[in-house]
Amino acid sequence: MSPDRNRLHMAVQKSGRLSDRSRQLLKDAGLRLSESGKNHLAARAENFPLDLMFVRDDDIPTFVADGVCELGIVGQNVLEEYALGLSEPRIEEVARLGFGKCSLKIAAPDTLNSFQPAMLDGQRIATSYPRLLKRFVESHGLTAEIVTMRGAVELAPRLGIARFVCDLVSTGATLEANGLAPVCDVFESEAVLVRTLRPIDNLHSDKVSALLARIDGVIATAESKYIVLNAPESALASITAILPGAEAPTVVPLIGRPGHVAVQAVCQESVFWETLERLKAAGASAILVMPIEKMMM
Ligand code: PRP
Ligand code: ZN
Repeated sequence: MSPDRNRLHMAVQKSGRLSDRSRQLLKDAGLRLSESGKNHLAARAENFPLDLMFVRDDDIPTFVADGVCELGIVGQNVLEEYALGLSEPRIEEVARLGFGKCSLKIAAPDTLNSFQPAMLDGQRIATSYPRLLKRFVESHGLTAEIVTMRGAVELAPRLGIARFVCDLVSTGATLEANGLAPVCDVFESEAVLVRTLRPIDNLHSDKVSALLARIDGVIATAESKYIVLNAPESALASITAILPGAEAPTVVPLIGRPGHVAVQAVCQESVFWETLERLKAAGASAILVMPIEKMMM
């Protein structure tokens, strides 16, 4: 099957930590994906000129750099490891997607009870991310023997291949199951949308812009919350100052409670428990935080 040049192509992870959320993001952006079975390597958006290519995450940067796929969704860990091997940039990160958060960490057998980066000097460290690890070790003025493994890195200490490992951690379950504990952070990562730096012809660039605008909308909605609360009128100024990323809240009188109002606002940033505590301390009560399904400003 040769790629249809009238359509855009996006590389996404076939199966793994990013695959479900990547598909969900595109569905939230209004794309109807032809639901091929799990084993299909491609899918087509029925209502947008976009084809998805399902590939291994490690292959995504190559596809996008070569322009085989104009777009891709990939973890910053994979992207940065790839980019460190290039002499000039070939891929551009266009949006952080807020999912697939994990961090590349150095871990040691959990019997090690104190750690300092200097302890890595001259040690063998097993990893699938040799360039990121090398940059980290060198940034501390150290040298280490980096043992590159494609997978099952956590087995290295038990097999006597290396004293330390440097691998991705999200829940930490894999480290724990292998008798390892994280000792320091090397790189923080989340899923990002990337585009090729190869020229995209005019016909395609309109489609790319349209798709990016929709994805921006989805990301904004995911972060945004609708807040409703009651407050004494005298506390309005301090309460609106606390509402994260809210513009011009709606203020309506409360029947039967003179001097009190209801405040409604769209907050375009995450609303944390700490924010609610501060609102309450400022005099707010009956605070509701609700998700927003769709938004067009
Ligand atoms: C990473 C890593 C660990 C696991 C850690 O693999 O190699 O095996 O995730 O996750 P946990 O902290 O939640 O246990 P990944 O899913 O990236 O697979 P891949 O290396 O095969 O792409
Ligand atoms: Zn991988």
